[in-house]
Amino acid sequence: SAIFRKGLFGHRSVVPTEPSALAEAAHRAMSKEAWAYVAGGAGQQRTVEANTAAFDHYRLVPRMLTNVESRELRTTLFGVDMPAPLMLGPVGVLELAHPRAEHEVAAAARATGIPMVISTQASVPMEEVAEDLGDTPRLYQLYWSKDESIVESFVRRAEAIGSDALVVTLDTHMLGWRTRDLDLGYLPFARGLGIAQYTSDPAFRALVEERIAGGGAGVRPGIREIPAALRAVASMAQHHPGKLVDNLRSGQARAAVETFLDVFSRSDLIWDDLDRLREMTDLPIVLKGLQAPEDARRALEHGVDGIIVSNHGGRQVDGAIASIDALPSIVDEVDGRIPVLFDSGIRSGADILKALALGADAVLLGRPYVYGLALAGAAGVQAVLEHMLAELDLSLGLVGCRSVDEIGRELLG
Ligand code: FNR
Repeated sequence: SAIFRKGLFGHRSVVPTEPSALAEAAHRAMSKEAWAYVAGGAGQQRTVEANTAAFDHYRLVPRMLTNVESRELRTTLFGVDMPAPLMLGPVGVLELAHPRAEHEVAAAARATGIPMVISTQASVPMEEVAEDLGDTPRLYQLYWSKDESIVESFVRRAEAIGSDALVVTLDTHMLGWRTRDLDLGYLPFARGLGIAQYTSDPAFRALVEERIAGGGAGVRPGIREIPAALRAVASMAQHHPGKLVDNLRSGQARAAVETFLDVFSRSDLIWDDLDRLREMTDLPIVLKGLQAPEDARRALEHGVDGIIVSNHGGRQVDGAIASIDALPSIVDEVDGRIPVLFDSGIRSGADILKALALGADAVLLGRPYVYGLALAGAAGVQAVLEHMLAELDLSLGLVGCRSVDEIGRELLG
């Protein structure tokens, strides 16, 4: 395919193909705060490390003489035709990696046809991302705000930009204990980064105006007013006066940050709340962040259209099960009734093949494309995607398969 040829002869001097070299190059290119935020995870980084190490628990057993001269990566999910079982996962605060953030990622999505999942914590409003994407499939990732008018508004906007599905991320109703960020005293949202979906939203703006009218602007929220999720950061800000909002000069920007910190997400959601979302929209609903087979069963009971097995790249629960180890039992529980997607730990095309062999219908890419973004903007993201697809295509053929449908557990030793 064109992607394969480009991948081989394209940007390889700037964007390494070897996964650890890619990460190292990005590390050198990024500020220490940006690197900590993107590469880091919760606590002792145990789950971050387990996510990639656990791929070693599964070994491929290649088959010979199966005529794999012509191969096909295309697949269909949620009614969307995709060039490969791969999407750009939702990653917030991309301006940490590149000033043009989602604009660059969307250009790479468009160039390759790989669908993009647009984050609620994006650095660019979803309408602008949608324009950059052209006809490329897009999904919208929702964090369920404390303020229902914002939830409803985000859903309507996601519909209006032609989202093919709504991805509801369940695992980040509070931010995890992100030790590297805490030690640097760095929370991007507290500096007004990654809140473009909010500041471009009419419902959110109304709340900010209310806050300003109520005399709240410019007042750092007291530790008791802040959700538990952000208390550690608030206390950090009290120890480093001014840090919470020190780069926000205007009262309006401060009020926006403070309002965001108040409404970000809800920890009191229960399974029945999904039924309200189901009534709110006809978009396919995909739950992201499931790790337990029992939760997959509940997701099916509530009529969702897909699930994403994920532990948020080890950023939430330190010591959580490696995502790839959680995949097989969830696939068994779902038993083909709805698509099961996978993320957390995909670093190569060979990793994608293993996830597919364990029963995933598609995978989402996270950190690796952010590294490409940091190194070379859209071209860097495109190079990372092309490397993934080239290796997937080669590996597929080398294990003896011609298409994604032919990949199954029998490939695993
Ligand atoms: C994320 N992830 C994420 N997920 C989500 O649903 N909404 C978001 O805004 C973000 N933001 C975010 C920022 C950064 C810097 C990272 C690294 C991750 C999680 C993401 O979608 C995905 O689950 C993980 O990135 C998968 O882990 P790996 O493969 O990147 O290690």
